[in-house]
Amino acid sequence: MTRPQLLIDTDPGVDDALAILMAHAHGDVAGLSIAAGNVGLEHTVRNARVLVDLLDARTPVFPGCATPLVRMPEENAAFVHGRDGFGDVGFSEPRNEAGGEAAALALVRLTRQRPGELTLVALAPLTNLALALRLDPALPTRIRRLVVMGGAVTGQGNTGRIPAEFNIGFDPESAHVVFEAFKDFDLVDWELTLRHAFDDDEFDGWLAAGDKRAQFYGGICQVARRTNRERGRRGVIVADALAMAVAIDPAVVVRSERRAVAVELDGRLTRGATVVDWANRLGRPANANIVLQLDRERFAAMVRRALGVD
Ligand code: RIB
Ligand code: CA
Repeated sequence: MTRPQLLIDTDPGVDDALAILMAHAHGDVAGLSIAAGNVGLEHTVRNARVLVDLLDARTPVFPGCATPLVRMPEENAAFVHGRDGFGDVGFSEPRNEAGGEAAALALVRLTRQRPGELTLVALAPLTNLALALRLDPALPTRIRRLVVMGGAVTGQGNTGRIPAEFNIGFDPESAHVVFEAFKDFDLVDWELTLRHAFDDDEFDGWLAAGDKRAQFYGGICQVARRTNRERGRRGVIVADALAMAVAIDPAVVVRSERRAVAVELDGRLTRGATVVDWANRLGRPANANIVLQLDRERFAAMVRRALGVD
């Protein structure tokens, strides 16, 4: 099977890191375009460079937008990912340098250079992709697939606004631009993520049996695992890894449904919510393939391989 050709927009970020390890283990990565989100852009760019060094890879890193498109964010996710986004472990300055090209420009260029080849995996607030779409509205025609980690399809989000999930809630206007521009993307939401958490003991076994990648991930994930436990969440929760699994191997999807999904921009209580027309009442064309169930063993095998377990 030919390796998937991946272009990843990301805000590393602990679960982003696992997704990026998976991408390099199972596919070829054309580039990492970096967003602000989990933590500030200075940290997310540095963290991407730390990962490229860890992997001894030559993957280009493209710094993106430091803020959302319109309104400043109300919260980041440092309480989950650590102040530096990587569990406050502390890594030395990476050897590789970030590219000088802005993320939005890199997204436009790479998709023009490789039309129809690249699977775009969006693991962060969608600011970079929205800007790329404003620069080049034809971008969706050159993307092989778009997989988005974001949203909460029945309103059970993870931010201070109950129905909003972090990636969408951090920059709702950008998510709106993306959801309106793409007529057929895969949506991996927060609620699916919670249904596919890994067992703690099993995951610890993988971390113990893996290689340097497992050792690295075992270090950066401790803050996130502790925070999730304190919030009553069970197991090892890795939202971006689910999206990467869907991007790498579509056959991992057991059940999905196509629906029209839109983003609430103005609600006092609901800004950033992903609003799904489950009953197809409005007659709007479906734009999202909402993933509802993964093959757990197939997903676990992809993660184990990314950690060097087997
Ligand atoms: O809500 C989960 C998403 O927000 C993930 O992408 C995580 O990395 C954070 O960015
Ligand atoms: Ca992320």
